[in-house]
Amino acid sequence: MKIIHLSDTHINTEILHNIDSQKRFKLALNHIKINHSDADIFIITGDLTHCGDDTSYQIFINILTEAKFPEHLYPKLIIGNHDDRENFKKNFPHIISDKNGFIQYVEHFDDKVFIFLDTNLSRTDEGHLCKKRLQWLKENLDKQVNKKIYLFMHHNPLALNDDKSDRIGLVQRDDLKKILLQFQNTIQHICFGHQHITSSGKYLGISFSSPRSTWVPLIPNFSDQYKLLTANTDPNYDIILIKEESLIVHTQDFLKTDVNLFTG
Ligand SMILES: [Fe+2]
Ligand SMILES: [Fe+2]
Repeated sequence: MKIIHLSDTHINTEILHNIDSQKRFKLALNHIKINHSDADIFIITGDLTHCGDDTSYQIFINILTEAKFPEHLYPKLIIGNHDDRENFKKNFPHIISDKNGFIQYVEHFDDKVFIFLDTNLSRTDEGHLCKKRLQWLKENLDKQVNKKIYLFMHHNPLALNDDKSDRIGLVQRDDLKKILLQFQNTIQHICFGHQHITSSGKYLGISFSSPRSTWVPLIPNFSDQYKLLTANTDPNYDIILIKEESLIVHTQDFLKTDVNLFTG
């Protein structure tokens, strides 16, 4: 199985921080079309827009429509801290919400189950999984018997460096940790975005990965103080290959399109 995992498109009506998020999203989609049209599923893990406004969601939809992906590659979407849940629902009426109105849903692919989580809390940047959302997650994990589970969320479920420097991470990470521990043998991988940095590793025995944003790439902060570090580095998205015995994450630097073959 081939998964396209892209994050943090931050579509906006105006150019922010001198980087055109619309242009970069188009370039990423074009790169996907050329190189990964054989993928099975395409997922965008939130911060679809920068301000959560209707106009930006419409621009996001137009860019996707113009890309003319086959129906099965129209991306599965979740929201991030920069999105607006109600505006998102208005613009994507086909995307299912849970019984409490959160944008959380489940997709089945043979023996695999993809669970999409909503970690948005209006007017905050940190991630939130309130009791209702955690309960929904637990109920849906309980339902899956003999399945391989893959979780998708916007916020990082663990601090990626020092706990103190993770001021905009998931607030209820201890509560989520209890659930992850309970299902650590069935959850195969966690995909997230939000920090705009490339990361991969293992948490509670579960592997995880995050791509940078397609808009502004950040670099890791290895201090114990919260700060965002920008650098003249590339945006990217991930390609995840799931095979019988392995899960492989490839970073795709979609601005680097010239490929040189070694010859001789
Ligand atoms: Fe973001
Ligand atoms: Fe975010």
